[in-house]
Amino acid sequence: MTHPGFFLVLEGGDGVGKSTQAQLLTEWLGSPVGGFAEVIHTREPGGTELGVALRDAVMHGGHVAPRAEALLYAADRAHHIATVVRPALERGAAVVQDRYVDSSIVYQGGARGLGDQVEKISRWATEDLMPDLTVVLDMEPSADRMARDLDRVEAETASRAQEIRQAYRDLARAGGDRYVVVGADRDPASVSHDIQQAVTAALESRG
Ligand code: TYD
Repeated sequence: MTHPGFFLVLEGGDGVGKSTQAQLLTEWLGSPVGGFAEVIHTREPGGTELGVALRDAVMHGGHVAPRAEALLYAADRAHHIATVVRPALERGAAVVQDRYVDSSIVYQGGARGLGDQVEKISRWATEDLMPDLTVVLDMEPSADRMARDLDRVEAETASRAQEIRQAYRDLARAGGDRYVVVGADRDPASVSHDIQQAVTAALESRG
């Protein structure tokens, strides 16, 4: 299932600056040098109205059984891809998305021990839509974040920050040229510059 658009996903642990980079990249892709007439910045969970409700359910409630949690993220993803992302890609837009299937692989599959079933559920949910490029923002987990007020999901994942970082690096290594790992512990403009170079190379290689 090919499309004329460009699907770029930003991944990485909590607090690595994904939203800032997504914003900068969205502006750049829509500029004359980026060259896209339409650029959409979106995210998972919560990129649709239904997704906002699912996001609240999974992130701010009490205990959610691990399989229920995995299915809530997959439900958000199925609806988001079908109603927002795929139509945009079919129109030829660039889509810049905070988090995608790899977040479920890393957080539900790895950190919660649900293994590769989680990946299969997400692939089914998205009818196998693969990003053209995944940018993994990589940095040493920061100590101040541990001290901040965190919601339920964040509090659980903060303690696993090292494991999450490593899981992303492993995915990127296994994924070849559909991935780029960018050091994120620098000023946002330098990080953005490196991402732009990787995007330019990805766009050139597909002609
Ligand atoms: P969010 O507030 O979007 O934070 P961030 O800025 O770090 O992206 O929180 C998303 C949280 O949801 C984050 O802790 C990771 C988690 N998550 C999963 O566990 N599985 C998933 O499939 C997705 C998309 C997110």
